[in-house]
Amino acid sequence: MLGVGVLISGSGTNLQAILDRAADGRCGFRVQLVVSNRADAPGLARAAAAGVPARVIDHRSFGTREAFDAALVAALREAEVELVALAGFDRLVTRVLLAAFPARVLNIHPALLPAFKGLHAQRQALDYGVKITGATVHLVDEDMDHGPIVVQGAVPVYADDTEATLRERILAVEHAIYPLALQLVAEGRLVVEGRRVTIRGPRPTGGPPLIVW
Ligand code: GRF
Repeated sequence: MLGVGVLISGSGTNLQAILDRAADGRCGFRVQLVVSNRADAPGLARAAAAGVPARVIDHRSFGTREAFDAALVAALREAEVELVALAGFDRLVTRVLLAAFPARVLNIHPALLPAFKGLHAQRQALDYGVKITGATVHLVDEDMDHGPIVVQGAVPVYADDTEATLRERILAVEHAIYPLALQLVAEGRLVVEGRRVTIRGPRPTGGPPLIVW
C-alpha cells in the first residue's frame, strides 16, 4: 500500500476525490497525512471526516521557503509518506522537498500544460479563446507547472462559459484524473524517461475525437 501525503491550501475538492478513491481498498494507496499551510482551509474538515490525520504548518512561521519545506518533509516522513500530492497547494516547493521525495511529488493544474501555467488558468484559457482546455497531473520539478506529464483530461470551452462554469467543468476532470494518477503510481506502472512518462499495461480505449466550436 503506497503511503500518500496530500498538501492543500483551500477547499480540497481534489483531496476529497483522492480520499474517496482511497476508501476503496483496491486502489493501492492510502492517505497517511494531510497538511495545510492555512489553518482555515476547508479541506481540513474533509480529512477529519475521513479519519485521516491532518496538520497545519503555516508557511509564515518560517524565514525561507526551504525552512518551510524542511518542516513539511519532517511531518511527511514521520507519517511514513512515500508520495506527495499537491492538491490546490498555493506555495512553490523547493529542492528540499523534491530531493526528499525524488520523482515522487505530483501536482494537478487546471489547464492542458504547457498552456496556461500559473494562476487563473481558466481565465487565461477564456481570454486566449481556446476551444479545448482541461487538466494535467504532472511530476513536480523546480520550475512551476513544468515537470513530466502523467495524465491529462480535456474539456470543451463554450462561447457562453464564465470562469466559474469552466472551473466546474475542469474540476470534474481533475477529480477523475488525480486519483487515477495516484493509482497508476501505486501500481508501479509509470516509466519516466526525461520529460516522457509512459504508463505500462492497458490504456483507456479512445472515444470519438473532441471537436468543439
Ligand atoms: C484545482 O483547480 C487545482 O487544479 C489547482 O487548484 C485547485 C484546487 O482545488 N491547483 P481544490 O482545493 O482541490 O478544490
